[in-house]
Amino acid sequence: MAEFQTHEHDVIVIGAGGAGLRAAIEASSAGVSVGLICKSLLGKAHTVMAEGGMAAAMANVDDRDSWKVHFADTMRGGQYLNNWRMAELHAQQAPDRVRELEAWGAVFDRTKDGKILQRNFGGHRYPRLAHVGDRTGLEMIRTLQDHGIHQGITVYMEHTVAGLLKDGNRVSGAIGYDREKGVLRVFRAKAVVLATGGVGRAFKITSNSWEYTGDGHSLAYEAGADLVDMEFVQFHPTGMVWPPSVRGILVTEGVRGEGGVLRNKDGKRFMFDDIPDNYKPQTADNPEEGWRYTQGDKSARRPPELLTRDHVARCINREVKAGRGSPHGGVFLDIAWIKEKISNAPEHIKKLPSMYHQFKQLADLDITTTPMEVGPTTHYIMGGVKVDGETQMSTVPGLFAAGEVAGGLHGANRLGGNSLSDLLVFGKLAGEHAAKYAKANGAGQVHQDQVDAAAKALLAPFERGANAESPYKVQYDLQDNMQALVGIVRKEDEMLKALDVIEGLKKRAGTVGVAGNREYNPGWHTAFDLGNLLTCAEAIARAAVARKESRGGHFREDFPNKDEKGFGTFNHVIRKGPDGKMQLVQVPLTPMPQHLKDAIEQEKK
Ligand code: FUM
Repeated sequence: MAEFQTHEHDVIVIGAGGAGLRAAIEASSAGVSVGLICKSLLGKAHTVMAEGGMAAAMANVDDRDSWKVHFADTMRGGQYLNNWRMAELHAQQAPDRVRELEAWGAVFDRTKDGKILQRNFGGHRYPRLAHVGDRTGLEMIRTLQDHGIHQGITVYMEHTVAGLLKDGNRVSGAIGYDREKGVLRVFRAKAVVLATGGVGRAFKITSNSWEYTGDGHSLAYEAGADLVDMEFVQFHPTGMVWPPSVRGILVTEGVRGEGGVLRNKDGKRFMFDDIPDNYKPQTADNPEEGWRYTQGDKSARRPPELLTRDHVARCINREVKAGRGSPHGGVFLDIAWIKEKISNAPEHIKKLPSMYHQFKQLADLDITTTPMEVGPTTHYIMGGVKVDGETQMSTVPGLFAAGEVAGGLHGANRLGGNSLSDLLVFGKLAGEHAAKYAKANGAGQVHQDQVDAAAKALLAPFERGANAESPYKVQYDLQDNMQALVGIVRKEDEMLKALDVIEGLKKRAGTVGVAGNREYNPGWHTAFDLGNLLTCAEAIARAAVARKESRGGHFREDFPNKDEKGFGTFNHVIRKGPDGKMQLVQVPLTPMPQHLKDAIEQEKK
């Protein structure tokens, strides 16, 4: 029997990005003991990759904004598959969460009269993103971390959680290991909050960092929780495409939010070619008007580059496929044009310091003089653990989820900037309700057979040794498969092929082996991550095959239209069936109350 060290907390939070930190702070301030477990070092969270800002209807730049407009934008962006209660709470509470962050020390950019400055982003009707240059996520993590370390939270850095423990129906803790020394650990807990982020590492081209292997999605699934709408993966329109070593790294939407325009190799602003009926952009290629719009000029019309991400990514894909792309398979994103036209251009481009340095250092390109080459990159999964909109509890009692790992808020497509505010609003709610659950329900039992089974599975790659297949090879093949067959444009036959490949990869993942011992062993970590990646990949592909329409982040070449009366009326739920196989069911949308319907109708005018 393997040896374990045991730790005991009222609440454990798995993941220390924005949602995890915010949940830990809230639970701790409710007076319960909190253990915060993170895969990486504290502060090295993927949240920092949300650069352009956090959306909150503060109306600092445009006084027409309100929570109702934000709610309606979020629902329209998500093409009405969203959990409307989450969208309502998010729009109502985001401004308070931003102000709270400021009170805790976040230094936001300011308007001339000293308010928090807000910028435009795709799909948001008014300038709404509170930001710190193009480093907003970084400032959020810095602030939460500074605040959180004074709360008495116990932090377990560089730990992977390998399984959730259950007592009957409810959760009773987790087992995992310390990535440095390989020590196995049992965490006894009355409630568990998942805040593990997304699953971008299942794809070849991604903005996501190495931690994003779908751990929370998979932990929840294995524990019997429901996952919702897993087919909806967001391909951010602008990642770097050159040089190859940095392909996929995010180029913030803030560049377009500050006046950047997209052009093909012929210099044409191709976004004018595909404008939805209800969107009223500038009537002609006039970057200056777009720039005035982004600076809050109410008489200017919006640039087509600020359409929603799903739409812009598909237009870029179309240009590249038609041979009108840039030399390295992207298109051009140009903010250098403003140098010629706008008197305070150098000041203006300084609003994007990270982008300036990113391109200078990684691509030897000066964005103040030269257009960038950009293309779509896997950025976010809208699908995730199905939660109660008010409490964030999953369908497993005592198990909560917040942030990217939770599904529902964003429906079929997330608006840029709604992620950072999501982390704060629902991180807080998850922490609050997890603490309440812990106080009300006490501890469940930890069953030794579950611990032993998890340990056996964790250590199996060592038994198979270095002569077995390498886990890296299986992960590489999975990424190739998902990128090629379940990417931006999907087709039935390709996705069925992907599912076949995934079946084969699952078998191979069960035979991979690693050399050496448990200390500092990245091969072992990868062997373990494979299971999570494959569960998520299968869920994405199954749900995508089943949804025979195009909506938001899910575009089917064989079903290019929306099916409002059919597929538009339900969510897909995935769970583990009694036979251990993945089951998919259709769950009708919950009817929306009249006051929210009215808010949506009002904004359509
Ligand atoms: O483009 C960006 O800065 C990303 C923001 C987000 O995904 O919310």
